[in-house]
Amino acid sequence: MILITGGAGYIGSHTAVVLLQAGYDIVIFDNLCNSSKVAIERIEQITSQPVPFVEGDIRHERELQQVFERYPIEAVIHFAGLKAVGESMQKPLAYFDNNINGTVQLLQVMQQHHVHQLVFSSSATVYGDNATREFVEIMPLGMPTNNYGYTKLVIEQMLEKMAQAEPQWAFANLRYFNPIGAHPGGLLGEDPQGIPNNLLPYVAQVAVGKLASLNIFGNDYDTPDGTAIRDYLHVMDLAQGHLKALQYLRGKTGNFIWNLGTGQGQSVQQIVQTFEQVTGISIPYQIAPRRAGDIAAFWANANKAQNELGWKAQYSLDTMIKDLWNWQSHNPNGFNT
Ligand SMILES: NC(=O)c1ccc[n+]([C@@H]2O[C@H](COP(=O)([O-])OP(=O)(O)OC[C@H]3O[C@@H](n4cnc5c(N)ncnc54)[C@H](O)[C@@H]3O)[C@@H](O)[C@H]2O)c1
Repeated sequence: MILITGGAGYIGSHTAVVLLQAGYDIVIFDNLCNSSKVAIERIEQITSQPVPFVEGDIRHERELQQVFERYPIEAVIHFAGLKAVGESMQKPLAYFDNNINGTVQLLQVMQQHHVHQLVFSSSATVYGDNATREFVEIMPLGMPTNNYGYTKLVIEQMLEKMAQAEPQWAFANLRYFNPIGAHPGGLLGEDPQGIPNNLLPYVAQVAVGKLASLNIFGNDYDTPDGTAIRDYLHVMDLAQGHLKALQYLRGKTGNFIWNLGTGQGQSVQQIVQTFEQVTGISIPYQIAPRRAGDIAAFWANANKAQNELGWKAQYSLDTMIKDLWNWQSHNPNGFNT
């Protein structure tokens, strides 16, 4: 059985569907600080399977112990954590506690229960403000420009040191680029609390009329149209990457790192245009100053994941946006039905 921490959240819920459909038994552990129990019901609806769910916090050892005592857990996929970049600059300690301390607690309980396989949600942010635009795993890491990213860097380094000291562990550090989109059935998707921090959820909320217009932060970057470039990938492709990483770790030990991205960069302007083409809705926007800490352009070199995991992103940008729009237009208030 696979424990999915943070499995009620955006990426975790899609990964839960992929794992169940691949025949895995799962248990979801989540404190619902940024998610809804309705997501668990939707996973059940999509897969026609009951999903064991435990409400709890990874920082609370007793709650984690109970899960490991109750379920025969063999491996963990660890999504639980806080992820709002801006908030992490205002509340660094909350991020250090939730992300770093929470991961330490989880590893301790895994150790006590002789579970040594962990897939970790890392991020392209660990490359820092690197001059090279195509990020590849062998590059030296940089200092992330925000405290959220810093927690990802610290956790990656902790896992590396643990794998060196205690050879029974197997870790997969998955460096995500920019996940967007939603389950194609329109029942699961991203449901940010308050004003979205990320481009696509923001655009989608402008399109349904919840927000008036989009701010494009900077049109004077050194990119073809002046707006920032990122590597957007479909959340279902990302979920599939977790399945492949889990399968790869089985029977192995060591610390492994894979970028998960499409290998293609898209500018903010291209995203807005594609959204307008796919949905037929025009998105009012204005140009705003650059945001502190944003970098001009980066995308994944995803060859390592292709060669070692047999994973390659399948979905086009049009499909990502079509699926996002299907979710957003059918669930304008997210899981608050
Ligand atoms: N979405 C992205 O763009 C992105 C990019 C790179 C990395 N990541 C990482 O991937 C993971 C999942 O991201 P997401 O977009 O699905 O975020 P999300 O907020 O939707 O999911 C995280 C889940 O973890 C839960 N959680 C948070 N703290 C917890 C705690 N202490 N105990 C138990 N549960 C807790 C939340 O309630 C939520 O359901 C996060 O670790 C995030 O940092 C996300």
